Amino acid sequence: MILAIESSCDETAAALVDDGGRLLSSVVASQADLHARYGGVVPEVASRRHLELCVPVVERALEDAGVGFDRVDAVAVTEGPGLIGALLVGLATAKALAFARRLPLIPVGHLHGHVASLYLEPEPVAPPFLVLLASGGHTLLAEVDDHGPGMRVVGQTLDDAAGEAFDQGARLLGLGYPGGAALERLARDGDDHAHEFAVAMAGREGLDLSFSGLKTALRTAVLAAGGDDAGRADLAASYQRALVRSLVSRTMRALEVTGRDTLAVVGGVAANGVLRAALEQECARAGVRLALAPLALCSDNAAMIASAARFCAALPYPEYLARDAYATA
Ligand code: KG4
Ligand code: ZN
Repeated sequence: MILAIESSCDETAAALVDDGGRLLSSVVASQADLHARYGGVVPEVASRRHLELCVPVVERALEDAGVGFDRVDAVAVTEGPGLIGALLVGLATAKALAFARRLPLIPVGHLHGHVASLYLEPEPVAPPFLVLLASGGHTLLAEVDDHGPGMRVVGQTLDDAAGEAFDQGARLLGLGYPGGAALERLARDGDDHAHEFAVAMAGREGLDLSFSGLKTALRTAVLAAGGDDAGRADLAASYQRALVRSLVSRTMRALEVTGRDTLAVVGGVAANGVLRAALEQECARAGVRLALAPLALCSDNAAMIASAARFCAALPYPEYLARDAYATA
C-alpha cells in the first residue's frame, strides 16, 4: 500500500492506493480561500499553510481508508515542479514518515501524476496515447508510451497555461480566484458568439499554444462593454469558446501529426464541460478513442501521485534523506 502526499501549489493532499491500483482514500485541503484576497497563490503563505495541514491531512487519509500507518509499504511525494517552499513541506513530511518506519520513499513528478490520474481502478486507461495536460501551471501535448514518468512533448504553451488564462479571464470579469470553474458557470448564461476573440496558432508544426494575446483582447472588450450581467456572461462565453477552440484545434492537429489513435485529457482544465464536450465531438468525428480524467481527479490531488508512484523507482531507506525538490521541469 502506498501513502502519497501532494503539496506543489495550494492544495494539501494525501491519499492511499493499494497494490492493485485501487484508491482507498483521497483527502484534499484547498487553500483557495486563503489566497483569494490576493488574486493568486502567495508562495510563502502557501508553505506555511501546508506546514499546518500536512500531518492532519495524512491522518485523515489513513482514517478514511480505515488502516493504520503500520500497513503502509512506501511513502510517495511530489518532488516538483511547483512552488519550491510548498514542495519542501510535503517532501520533508514524507521523508520523516518513511524514515520513522524505514520505508522506501518514491519521488513523483507532478506532471506524471496528472497523467497517472488515468491509471486507477475501476476503469484504468493504459498507454500508449497522446495526452493533453492542461492545468494552472502547465499546458502541453505529449506522447506517452508506457506507465512510467517519461513523455515526449510535441507542443506546449509559449506563455500562459490554459488554467492561468481561465483564472486571468475570471479576474477581469470580477469572479475571484481561482476562476476557471466560476467562468464556466457564468458562461452558461452567455452567447459564445457575442465576441470574436482570435487565438494565436504558434510555432513547431503549429502544435504550440499561446494565450497571452487573448487575455489582452478580453481586457479591451471588458473595458468597452461596461459591467452589466448579460454583457459579462457573453464575454465569459466568448472567451471560453476561444480558449476551448485553441486547445481543441492544437490537440486534433497533434493527433494527426503523431498518428496516435487515443487521446487522454488530464489536469484542472480537463474538468471544463465545454472542453470535454468539444473533444468528445471531435474525437468521435476523427475516430479517436477519448479518455477523460475522472472529474474528481482533474484538479491537484494525491491519488494521482500515489497512482504514478506505482510506476516509479523507489529509493531505499535511508538514501532519500538528501533528496531535493525542484521548482521547474
Ligand atoms: O491541475 P490543477 O489543479 O493545478 C495545477 O497543477 O496547476 O489546475 C488548476 C487550474 C486552475 O487554473 C483552475 O482555474 C482550472 O484548473 N480549472 C478550470 C476548471 N476547473 C479548474 N478551468 C476551466 N474550467 C473548469 N471547470
Ligand atoms: Zn497540477
